[in-house]
Amino acid sequence: MDRRSFLESCTAAAGLGAAAASFPAWAADAKPKAYAKALLVDDRGAPLKASALKPQANYVFHYPFEATPVFLLDLGKAVSPNALTTQDRNSYQWPGGVGARRSIVAFSAICAHQLVYPTPEVSFISFRRKRAQRGVQDGLIHCCAEHSQYDPARGAEVLSGPARQPLCAVLLAHDAGADTLTAYATLGGELFDDFFRKYEMKLSLDVGPKARNAVAGQSVVRELEKFCKNPIQC
Ligand code: FES
Repeated sequence: MDRRSFLESCTAAAGLGAAAASFPAWAADAKPKAYAKALLVDDRGAPLKASALKPQANYVFHYPFEATPVFLLDLGKAVSPNALTTQDRNSYQWPGGVGARRSIVAFSAICAHQLVYPTPEVSFISFRRKRAQRGVQDGLIHCCAEHSQYDPARGAEVLSGPARQPLCAVLLAHDAGADTLTAYATLGGELFDDFFRKYEMKLSLDVGPKARNAVAGQSVVRELEKFCKNPIQC
């Protein structure tokens, strides 16, 4: 592990605090990017219980910035680590699922192709429990814009479509005693700079001046159907 990777891994681990017991053993080339910790809470502000997540349902929270959405999924089965590569040819080891069954995963909901993302008005991207229209298997994250498909059980690896890299992973720590989840870092190809550039005007109208504020402390988790009025199923 080179010095930079080592320091980044240490920074992520140090930021994890009390939940460090579930911090994974990183491969030599992993480069998690640490952000402020955010406890996942329900819409009343109570800590979300990992075991209360409905299997294979779409949940949305925002991390690492106020305007950057993330899909939270309990895939209903144990999910193993996977070796992945960004479009810049940086390899990384996605650590797999967390929670009692290692079935819970989180990925940036910003499509790695043209940055389509779920808003309160409409969502063209979501997890599909059953085969999507142009799907190759069940249980994919499908973007209706140009039909990029990602496998959340393999770190959101691209299975088809024009996207050139996996969705950026959001790393979660599971506190087994409290059964809570804390977001603490990203891993993979971040597209946040491109996202804020592309949607600067829209985000200033929709979210306001706090759009690029870092999420810290907690982040509210909502089912996609409650977060978004019109989740498109293409
Ligand atoms: S924006 Fe998602 S496939 Fe093009």
